[in-house]
Amino acid sequence: MNLDYIPAQNRYDKMIYRRSGNSGVLLPAISLGLWHNFGFVDVFNHFRKTIRTAFDHGIIHFDLANNYGPPYGSAEENFGKILKLDLMRFRDELFISSKAGYDMWPGPYGNFGSRKYLIASCDQSLKRMGLDYVDVFYSHRPDPDTPVEETMQALDHIVRSGRALYAGISNYNPEQTEKAIKILRSLGTPCLIHQPKYSMFHREPEEGLLDVLGHEKVGAIVFSPLAQGLLTDKYLKGIPKNSRAGRPNIFLTKEHMTPQIMEKITKLNTLAKNRDQSLAQMAISWLLKDERITSVLVGASSSKQLLNSLGALDHLEFSAKELEAIENILN
Ligand SMILES: NC(=O)c1ccc[n+]([C@@H]2O[C@H](COP(=O)([O-])OP(=O)(O)OC[C@H]3O[C@@H](n4cnc5c(N)ncnc54)[C@H](OP(=O)(O)O)[C@@H]3O)[C@@H](O)[C@H]2O)c1
Repeated sequence: MNLDYIPAQNRYDKMIYRRSGNSGVLLPAISLGLWHNFGFVDVFNHFRKTIRTAFDHGIIHFDLANNYGPPYGSAEENFGKILKLDLMRFRDELFISSKAGYDMWPGPYGNFGSRKYLIASCDQSLKRMGLDYVDVFYSHRPDPDTPVEETMQALDHIVRSGRALYAGISNYNPEQTEKAIKILRSLGTPCLIHQPKYSMFHREPEEGLLDVLGHEKVGAIVFSPLAQGLLTDKYLKGIPKNSRAGRPNIFLTKEHMTPQIMEKITKLNTLAKNRDQSLAQMAISWLLKDERITSVLVGASSSKQLLNSLGALDHLEFSAKELEAIENILN
């Protein structure tokens, strides 16, 4: 334990907490995800500072998955080290998630949605993070070949056996979501939250998913709210070497930066400036205007970035004119 770290006394003063559906759980309006920037390839003391900054500002929800890194598992292992050094004393103030559903280990039991995979993977995640339980465990994606009943029964078992406090789903479409919610409810383990991709550049949840979640009173925590960094000013003058698109990866590349996208980003950036916000801040505020969104799940490669994103909370309101201008740019 590192008693050098004394968290900010006022850490709960500014953050807004929103209820996840009709559950007992409140989540910070901005949560931090560890998909990129927290693996063995990254610098430990650098991202440890980001986690401390998060906690110091009321970000008490940290989102992980079995394969975050690289290499797979390393973000959980690093997060476990940070817990041990800085945050385990505050375990009851934290809301920690993990997931299984994508590729994790070779062979037929290291991917998708079987009971075999989900339970084994949850045990591995707990071990890597040095935790007795996670707060929410997700089915990371629907499995076209495993009956959804089996996947939901595995989540129910994970909760009943004390490995997780709540169950969640991610990347399920509206119909799959409706079905999963009903099965979980019938098993007595209600679905706490859905984790879909949602940003100004990715509007799919508006095509039915948010209606299902609103109607079923299930929370929504939205990922890649900055379109992995596109919805910021960082790519306006080319691709910085140290950015996600500048590093070798398949998720964000220069091919995503078409002239049309760059034109939209330039116009959105001007609009954000007129609101006295950074584009990142405006992109986050824009998501939070919908009450069905429990939390916006950002990534960050530095504490400075995270502090910038947190500034979104200072200006959440939009005039009808601003919303119209945003739609005009996006369409
Ligand atoms: N359920 C799923 O299937 C799924 C899938 C993807 C993600 N997720 C979750 O969602 C989390 C967030 O995803 P994401 O990392 O794609 O989110 P994002 O917030 O859209 O992108 C994060 C990246 O944007 C840049 N950035 C962040 N804040 C900035 C700021 N204020 N100003 C300028 N640039 C800024 C950084 O890029 P640089 O690194 O270039 O500096 C950062 O790495 C993940 O960590 C994970 O927990 C879930």
